[in-house]
Amino acid sequence: MGHLPQQPGRTPHTRWHPHLWHPFAQEALHDPPRMAQGGQGPWLELADGGRVLDAISSWWVTLHGHGEPAIAAAIAAQARQLEQVIFANFSHPPAVTLAQRLCQAWPGLDRLFFSDNGSTAVEVCLKMALQYWHNRGKPRQQLIAFDGAYHGDTFGAMALGARSLFTTPFDPLLFSVARCPYPATWWGDDTVEDREQSALGCLDQLLKTPTAGVIIEPLVQGAGGMAMARPDFFQQVAQRVQGAGALLIADEVMTGFGRTGALFASHRAGIQPDLVALSKGLTGGFLPMAVSLAREAIYQAFVADHPRHTFFHGHSFTANPLGCAAANASLTLLQDHPERYQGFAERHRPHLEMLARLSGLERPRLCGTIAAIDLRVDQPGYLHQAGRQIQRSCMEGGVFVRPLGHVLYLIPPLSMNDEQLEQCYGVLGRAVQNLNGGITKS
Ligand SMILES: Cc1ncc(COP(=O)(O)O)c(C=O)c1O
Repeated sequence: MGHLPQQPGRTPHTRWHPHLWHPFAQEALHDPPRMAQGGQGPWLELADGGRVLDAISSWWVTLHGHGEPAIAAAIAAQARQLEQVIFANFSHPPAVTLAQRLCQAWPGLDRLFFSDNGSTAVEVCLKMALQYWHNRGKPRQQLIAFDGAYHGDTFGAMALGARSLFTTPFDPLLFSVARCPYPATWWGDDTVEDREQSALGCLDQLLKTPTAGVIIEPLVQGAGGMAMARPDFFQQVAQRVQGAGALLIADEVMTGFGRTGALFASHRAGIQPDLVALSKGLTGGFLPMAVSLAREAIYQAFVADHPRHTFFHGHSFTANPLGCAAANASLTLLQDHPERYQGFAERHRPHLEMLARLSGLERPRLCGTIAAIDLRVDQPGYLHQAGRQIQRSCMEGGVFVRPLGHVLYLIPPLSMNDEQLEQCYGVLGRAVQNLNGGITKS
């Protein structure tokens, strides 16, 4: 039996599983994944008996907390009723209820299309936008996105996102997308107005070419570094995009469901997109599911008495009833307890203010449940080593974080209490203080 050759000088990491391939993980450089065997609220319980506070809601999905009983019960009840049915030929009550509730929450968006994850929700919005123009007999190809954007890992979503370390092997095959600068801001930033103006100037130029759609991450760019921009900027963007007749696509995969302090970031920003992608918090983090919402006028461009205008897109698990049941239960929790997300920013604030006083940190910023701050380093970026050192030392302190290189952030589940939040900041602050090397002290 042949063996794959070992790279010279590479010690095999025996603690990585021989059959699993983990996402965004590098066996030759990273600590092996820990074995999780339970979850309760903000806690993740580990197989070795320890437990850690999940301060990033397991990649921003565990909205309420792990093991939320109302969602678990809704899934179990639905599993006994109907676990799955082909959605091309059937509908079912949990899908109908969810569509009614989400369309009600989004005035102006009357159609809901299901898929399975954030990337596919974005792909669907993209294909809807392009086919909308095609079906109307006025094809448009230009798409516009913002610098630093991240919209997922499938090809269309990757093409919309910024070119980066993540996309390099595929860059030659990614279709081109026009880009505008993104005017990220932070506490005490006095340069933002100028940068907003130059971004809008760039957008004006680009919109002179007929444009199919412009995609934004309203209020916060997630994987791009928890980069926050002002609501007013998004209003100006929306005005220009929709004024030029292009479709405004809001990627709320991360920002949806209370994360920014309002149920949806677009509402807090004061904009009405034409297409919206939602996932992550949709099922409270229980099941992989996503939706794309569209204006009725977009849907109507696909209705015709011949098949050519059909939206030929679907996934095996489209509108999985268990996912819909979970999403309905999660939405009920959000609607019954809006204070849990509306009040989160004020709970972060004093801790973030304290953290920002530590040397070596800069650009504190806060939006709803999302708090972020940067390590001041010579070469900022996703690969910066300091993030991994912080992650390791927080883990030892009982808190799970996953910095984006030099960007430290917390997105806790809504069930995290004040004491637990204080623990997260305490552990993070000590990790920053213990960090040696790599940081340019102020
Ligand atoms: C804004 C945004 N869009 C899309 C995605 C892709 O979602 P998924 O990882 O579920 O495919 C992400 C994931 O982090 C995201 O933050």
